[in-house]
Amino acid sequence: MPDQFEALRQAIEAAPLDSEEAVDRFRIAYLSRKQGRITELLKQIPSVPPDERKAFGRQVNLLKRRVEERIEEAKARLRTARTTPKPEIDLTLPGRRPLTGSIHPLTRTLEDIKRVFGSYGFDVAEGPEIEDDWHNFTALNFPPDHPARDMQDTFFLEPPDRPHGGILLRTHTSPVQIRVMESQPPPYRVIVPGRVYRNESISYKSYCLFHQVEGLCVDEGVTLGDLKQILHVFARALFGDDVKMRFRPSFFPFTEPSAEVDIWWPDPADPAGGRWLEILGCGMVDPNVLEAVNVDPERYTGYAFGMGIERIAMLRYDIKDIRLFYENDVRFLEQF
Ligand code: PHE
Repeated sequence: MPDQFEALRQAIEAAPLDSEEAVDRFRIAYLSRKQGRITELLKQIPSVPPDERKAFGRQVNLLKRRVEERIEEAKARLRTARTTPKPEIDLTLPGRRPLTGSIHPLTRTLEDIKRVFGSYGFDVAEGPEIEDDWHNFTALNFPPDHPARDMQDTFFLEPPDRPHGGILLRTHTSPVQIRVMESQPPPYRVIVPGRVYRNESISYKSYCLFHQVEGLCVDEGVTLGDLKQILHVFARALFGDDVKMRFRPSFFPFTEPSAEVDIWWPDPADPAGGRWLEILGCGMVDPNVLEAVNVDPERYTGYAFGMGIERIAMLRYDIKDIRLFYENDVRFLEQF
């Protein structure tokens, strides 16, 4: 007898109730009124000898309850499986957009500047960010101890009074004028983009590093008229054909005469209003500079200019704080 119950118990536990049909078949096999196996056993109870009847009846009822439990369990499980959506691929959903990044506004501005001057035959030259006194100052006609050196507060790596002193973070891109002219004979027609460093107090409008583009053109017969023309072309390309531009006399040791160039910035709120904004420095290359690099100033003349890329980008994109360029905050960068 115990064996019979044990075999039945194992069969009940092992039945795989993985579909509604399987559950139905299971219920019929055990509980159906006609030939269900549990039903048969229940029918036998009255004929079991009285001293075994109680134990027999208990066993049968335990098995019956187990069959019912398994059926309830399986039904519940199949019901949730039916109502929970399967993790399928939904081809109608929009795709996930890849992060593409964008071009930094300084790079973009520089690319535009390169394009304008490139179309007028200017090559791109570069030079080191760590310079010596000769290239950053002396060859550019800043005499030693001349107050013009104080126009740019400088980061020295070696103080000027040391034997190999005067090593510094370049304060402008003009030293590359010297390097270009030292490396090959005239004519020259280059622009020089690059980083420069100054000991500025940091604020919305100045930072300890920034970027410049230098321009240099030296050939026979180059005049101030050529300088004005190329700068006008440049200003129109970057700020629009109706840009108003003026030359304001200024001083740089390495150009003579020298000027600063301003453009007129209309006030969007007031048609009569606006102001002049300085965008670059320029002038005719000083004969002393040509002599320093052994170019004959009687035969060759030239012009040079230098502009801050940040200044131009801030005007074009209406950026109010120079520090935004260096923080790499995606919320700023993704606007370009
Ligand atoms: N180097 C100058 C500056 O940094 C700009 C400049 C370049 C002026 C070339 C004249 C000619 O202020």
